[in-house]
Amino acid sequence: MADNWQPDSWKSGEARHLPHYEDPAELAQAENQLSGYPPLVFAGEARALKAELADVANGHAFLLQGGDCAESFAEFHPNNIRDTFRVLLQMAVVLTFASKRPVVKVGRMAGQFAKPRSAATETKGEMTLPSYFGDNINGIEFTPEERRNDPMRMVRAYSQAAATLNLLRAFAGGGYANLRQVHQWTLDFMGRTPWTDKFSRTADRIGEALDFMEACGIDPATVPQLQGTNFYTSHEGLLLPYEQALTRRDSLTGDWYATSAHMLWIGDRTRFPGSAHVEFARGIGNPLGMKCGPNLAPDTLIELLDVLNPEREAGRITLISRFGHDKVEDGLPPLVRAVEREGHKVVWSCDPMHGNVVKSETGFKTRPFDRILAEARSFFDVHRAEGTHPGGVHIEMTGQDVTECVGGAVAITEERLGDRYHTHCDPRLNAEQSLELAFLLAEMLNAEGELERSANAA
Ligand code: PEP
Ligand code: CO
Repeated sequence: MADNWQPDSWKSGEARHLPHYEDPAELAQAENQLSGYPPLVFAGEARALKAELADVANGHAFLLQGGDCAESFAEFHPNNIRDTFRVLLQMAVVLTFASKRPVVKVGRMAGQFAKPRSAATETKGEMTLPSYFGDNINGIEFTPEERRNDPMRMVRAYSQAAATLNLLRAFAGGGYANLRQVHQWTLDFMGRTPWTDKFSRTADRIGEALDFMEACGIDPATVPQLQGTNFYTSHEGLLLPYEQALTRRDSLTGDWYATSAHMLWIGDRTRFPGSAHVEFARGIGNPLGMKCGPNLAPDTLIELLDVLNPEREAGRITLISRFGHDKVEDGLPPLVRAVEREGHKVVWSCDPMHGNVVKSETGFKTRPFDRILAEARSFFDVHRAEGTHPGGVHIEMTGQDVTECVGGAVAITEERLGDRYHTHCDPRLNAEQSLELAFLLAEMLNAEGELERSANAA
């Protein structure tokens, strides 16, 4: 357990990107209410995820983490939850097949509300209002009422997270995640997307593998693992009053855990020595993510790792690099070398989204699919060159048919971005683009596997 730590010791750190609440009594009321509510996850589940991530850190598994940039109250609907979950499962099957390794599935779901913003206020015409910080803090509409930071929104976010998690648990364990079924959805997709031809061979091979297993008596009826899956939740641990209220002592071990999600990560803007967010994360037993962008110095990274993982426990830390397609090749190797030199065991995951935001001619914030792919390729190249394991990907996606990222085989153009641009924050890959990315990642993982096999044979 961390020394000199309490759920509120983050208050002594430098708290960037936290909203200012005007009425302390109103904030205290919301916090008290949440403190009495049931935990959303159990500490034992967080430990199970940590154990699965330790396998990733040791090169024996792959991590798929994905979901909304920002969940919203407006998009809260069972179909949205179902569709995002389904696409994540489809991606996971493709990645499992290619990597021949288990894929650890973690949603940016059931709690991913709060957003760090580069500017605290936004001005339109004569009016200046607080920026939109996420639905658990204020509303996206540009009116003084909506933009007021309202602590009771945390309670509503908790309820939405609870209902979302409940449905995810039902899907994961109740038969919806049946492997055969997941593959059938992919086949249904194959009939109507432009990339069908390119990837049909992989899809056919997965189908053949399932047929073969079934002939051997290995099917969802006989092997319960094929009926369901482990599915975990995560979000950026940004809104510390919310996280603190849901931090509980585990009755089995006596250790503190954040119970708002299985895994929390520290964003690129709040991962600095002395940060309130780092101080909070230090004392919880959950697996932690940390975003690593271009301005993170290798020495600072090591300093942070020493604070967050003094025991050097494998699975505790996932480093999520997000450099941008043209910066990863130069920026990532010094971090990888520093971590190797110091003997820290981490999961290396690639977020090819956050360094690749551009503004379209039509005025939308978008991400070109080819840049997303380019960053992922460079991530694999760097790890191959350094002899380390490219352990996972972290993506912003949705199961909905949105038009937010340009490109992909479905060729979303800048002109079409306005058709269905629904995100409350950053542009997400839609269902087809997500699955296409999975097939392309599968090619990279295949190449990894072949290299490894030939190295072992030599
Ligand atoms: C995010 O993941 O939504 C995010 C804000 O990322 P980053 O901290 O890497 O900018
Ligand atoms: Co984002």
